[in-house]
Amino acid sequence: MSSIAIIGCGNIGFSIAEGLISSDKKMAKQIIATKRNLTSIKSLQEKGIQITSSNKLAVKSAKYIIIAVKPFKVEEVLAEISSSLKKDQIIISVASEVSLDRIKTVLKKDITCFRAMPNTATSIGESMTCIATKNATPTQIKEVEKLFSGIGETILIEENLMEAATILGACGIAYVLRFIRAMIQGGIQIGFDAETASRITTQTVKGAAELLLQKGSHPEQEIDKVTTPKGCTITGLNEMEHQGFSSSLIQGIVKSFQKIEK
Ligand SMILES: NC(=O)c1ccc[n+]([C@@H]2O[C@H](COP(=O)([O-])OP(=O)(O)OC[C@H]3O[C@@H](n4cnc5c(N)ncnc54)[C@H](OP(=O)(O)O)[C@@H]3O)[C@@H](O)[C@H]2O)c1
Repeated sequence: MSSIAIIGCGNIGFSIAEGLISSDKKMAKQIIATKRNLTSIKSLQEKGIQITSSNKLAVKSAKYIIIAVKPFKVEEVLAEISSSLKKDQIIISVASEVSLDRIKTVLKKDITCFRAMPNTATSIGESMTCIATKNATPTQIKEVEKLFSGIGETILIEENLMEAATILGACGIAYVLRFIRAMIQGGIQIGFDAETASRITTQTVKGAAELLLQKGSHPEQEIDKVTTPKGCTITGLNEMEHQGFSSSLIQGIVKSFQKIEK
């Protein structure tokens, strides 16, 4: 794999770096990460990743340049590195809400650009990363998919779905974690200590997701296997629905989407 520059190594940049080196320790030598204050990424340096506060230096020899600063900083960073970019380099922005057209306009150069939307499970190689491009060749698309497949699964989508991908895939981690937290709290109320409730809940959630991933079944098919007529599962499930469980989740997703679309 060619070298990778991570520009703006904060939460997601750090997760990507961690995920890449845990998938292949030898990759550390090929990664260079930047941020202005380097204190929080010293641990990456100890693992063999180069760190610098110079974005221009970082992009010099990198084939893939991952832009991981906050959306409002993207243009400033692109303008800063633009003069140092060469035609065979590939820009991959993980920032939400900054379009491929906007990136190209700021760069003022004919450079291959991608948008990618990973989530924080990149750090353990379990991201779902949605990828979009307008001007990449099929070979370049394969290369970028390969890069992100080191940190989880990838899906190629149209750019007009990138904001929806941000909500479902990146924000989705938070929705699921809030669900898990509520389940743990329920577990404590019915008798478990917090640690045991957490172990039971997290493995149950993992098992439920794996059932769908491995069998390709619909959630309701698996739910039918757990619900005895007049039993405790269906009683609890129906009460959750009376209280608006599915509805509040869907409404929350739609509200998040409306916020990002504004
Ligand atoms: N968090 C997620 O789950 C997630 C998931 C997918 C995509 N994203 C996207 O990823 C981007 C970053 O989000 P985040 O949560 O990782 O934010 P973050 O933690 O604030 O990370 C951004 C980093 O950029 C650095 N930075 C700011 N200005 C810079 C500059 N001029 N040159 C180099 N580095 C600079 C900051 O460090 P210094 O202040 O030290 O420079 C900061 O650590 C956003 O655009 C977001 O939409 C986030």
